[in-house]
Amino acid sequence: MTKDTNAIVRSQFGVAAPDYATSEVHAKGESLARIVELAAPEKPWHVLDVATGAGHMAAAFAPLVTSIVASDITDEMLIEAGKLAASRNLINMTTAPAEAAALPFADETFDLVCCRLAAHHFPSLERFVNEVQRVLKKRGRFALVDNVAPDRELLPDASDEDIEDLVAAYNAFEKLRDPSHGFAPPPETWVDLLERRGFSIVAREQFGKEIAFAPWISRMRCASDVVAKLENILSEGPPQLRKFLSPRRDNDGPLHFTLQELLLVADKVA
Ligand SMILES: C[S@@+](CC[C@H](N)C(=O)[O-])C[C@H]1O[C@@H](n2cnc3c(N)ncnc32)[C@H](O)[C@@H]1O
Repeated sequence: MTKDTNAIVRSQFGVAAPDYATSEVHAKGESLARIVELAAPEKPWHVLDVATGAGHMAAAFAPLVTSIVASDITDEMLIEAGKLAASRNLINMTTAPAEAAALPFADETFDLVCCRLAAHHFPSLERFVNEVQRVLKKRGRFALVDNVAPDRELLPDASDEDIEDLVAAYNAFEKLRDPSHGFAPPPETWVDLLERRGFSIVAREQFGKEIAFAPWISRMRCASDVVAKLENILSEGPPQLRKFLSPRRDNDGPLHFTLQELLLVADKVA
């Protein structure tokens, strides 16, 4: 199962790697500067970025810490991350192949582990959190950014059953566009997972992220029938899902919608 999922990830992201290097959402998204601020890195720290993609988050942390390993399972992404480090002369940023659920690092190696816009691809969030806990030093810090599914806070009128259906419908929408999408849970699931594994949440923020439809589908090279289905969901899909995604065309311009990003910082206390 893990092998299959990772093979899909590699084939999706292998060809898309150069697009991620220039993607506005990834290179300049609001969450990038904010998660660095919330994680409050210190100069002596050794850091691991899991699923670094084209290396944007690793490059943002690198000038502020002693070392950072930018890791990923897709070789083409590691090449992009290496190019970014070289272009900014970040000599303390290195790259390494690593699967999120089986990190090839010794126990208690890092002061900070970070992971941005990637965990929804991982075959098991639980195994990922176990690995983060293992490779972090005592009182080490975890900084997470990821898209999250709808919850009661955003849709106060929805019943528990509605929310369950919406979580499934939102994940199906993402998986239609990107077959390597695994599961993006609602925010509370992340908090529960981390607290159960002995982390204490020190910062939590969430905001809507504006997505331009055209580059979003072209990064994943969606076929025209898939594009039509995605457009149809945005224009005629379940009303609560449309409320969550809030599709719009300002002044008849290009189609946009909103995804929700969760930012969490948690300290290892056990
Ligand atoms: C959207 S990109 C990451 C974006 C990047 N972190 C940033 O902030 O710009 C998602 C990345 O997750 C990686 N990935 C997916 N599943 C993975 C896994 N199980 N272990 C490690 N990396 C994985 C993919 O290869 C891809 O590079």
